[in-house]
Amino acid sequence: MSNDPFVHVISHPLVQHKLTLMRRKDASTSSFRRLLNELSMLMAYEVTRDMEISYVSIDTPMETMQAPTIDGKKLALISILRAGTGILDGMLQVVPGARVGHIGIYRNPDTLQAVEYFFKVPQNMPERDVIVVDPMLATGNSAVAAIARIKLTQPKSIKFLCLLTCPEGVAAMRSAHPDVPIYTAAIDRQLNEDGYILPGLGDAGDRIFGTK
Ligand code: URA
Repeated sequence: MSNDPFVHVISHPLVQHKLTLMRRKDASTSSFRRLLNELSMLMAYEVTRDMEISYVSIDTPMETMQAPTIDGKKLALISILRAGTGILDGMLQVVPGARVGHIGIYRNPDTLQAVEYFFKVPQNMPERDVIVVDPMLATGNSAVAAIARIKLTQPKSIKFLCLLTCPEGVAAMRSAHPDVPIYTAAIDRQLNEDGYILPGLGDAGDRIFGTK
């Protein structure tokens, strides 16, 4: 992990190895999806590292003890459609009790600006810790707009989890939401003029869903 409290680069060798396999242009849709699922589980460990623990009394076969437990229901995973869905499945395998929200937002290809078309999140947001998920933090426009919208529901805390980002995406988030830490597997070199990350992995949505 990096020392910057705002950007946590998850440098675990398993995460880095799987990311390399995903970047390869000849990775099939099924292997891309499987790897994203595995990576999401691994990244879930880091992003939930400081989750609140409480103690409950349980009986082991030997005696009664106070044992640590988490309340997964307090967590709301909010996916930025459509590519965020690819991260949800793996995270839910690790935290099956988490609540799930969706925000539909797309980039206008001409302006690269974010346009919202869907918003559904769990009730009682002020009691919940939110993790917003989207594989690619590129221009940052979608993530910045999604988080601004989610903030209106006043959750207890917000983190942002992506697979890949770039200096431009980090800068956009740092300036708009300095209170929302980013968890990522890598910070790539740059954006190209079409808003894609280089070297990147291409269009995450198309690669997850096989739409191209
Ligand atoms: N979205 C993607 O899917 N890929 C990029 O490189 C940038 C944004």
